[in-house]
Amino acid sequence: MKIDIISVVPALLDSPFAHSIMKRARDKGLLEVNCINLRDHTTYARAQVDDYAFGGGAGMVMMIEPLVNAIESLQKHTSYDEIIFLTPDGETFNQQTANQLSLKNNLLLICGHYKGVDQRLRDHFITREISIGDYVLSGGELAAAVLVDAIGRLIPGVLNDETSALTDSFQDNLLAPPVYTRPVEFRTWKVPDILLSGNHARIEQWRHDQAMLRTAERRPDLLNRE
Ligand code: ADE
Repeated sequence: MKIDIISVVPALLDSPFAHSIMKRARDKGLLEVNCINLRDHTTYARAQVDDYAFGGGAGMVMMIEPLVNAIESLQKHTSYDEIIFLTPDGETFNQQTANQLSLKNNLLLICGHYKGVDQRLRDHFITREISIGDYVLSGGELAAAVLVDAIGRLIPGVLNDETSALTDSFQDNLLAPPVYTRPVEFRTWKVPDILLSGNHARIEQWRHDQAMLRTAERRPDLLNRE
């Protein structure tokens, strides 16, 4: 899968994909991530990419021209399955959307800044608008990093057996059950006997029960989801 990201602060995206599972995915050739500096695509003086909002009001608006220049230059080599704008007024990102997007070949992410982007870009180029939660970040870069991480780890071959996505929280609309490792006893706190029993069927049942309990306590809304 290839993910291209258009940003005015591409340096913000240097580190999130340079380590751990994302690095492995890239090293294995399963994930390609390219960051494109929007300022390389503007024809305005001093690499300007934003301007005052028509009608007045506080805050600058990202201009359509540099963004369209960047998008169309990328489209010369790549046909995108989705052109996604990261914005707090988009659909809220969740595991189901991550699963869907992990099946695509080419994604283009556009990071917003300032007061947003000229509506005409949203009307004519953007195919999907995604928010990572009900709070406002100073730009879309961290949101883009969240998407790439959540999507990238689902690409077949990225995770090995130990890190398999199948037992993650939110797969099956359940939170993950508690986990334990050595030592068997720390201070007076013991690992539940069932996990040491070697009875795999009973352990699986216990894990499922714990996942249900945890979900009912913390996120009862998940139990009623499709
Ligand atoms: N840009 C600013 N805030 C955001 C959010 N919550 N999600 C996605 N992009 C954003």
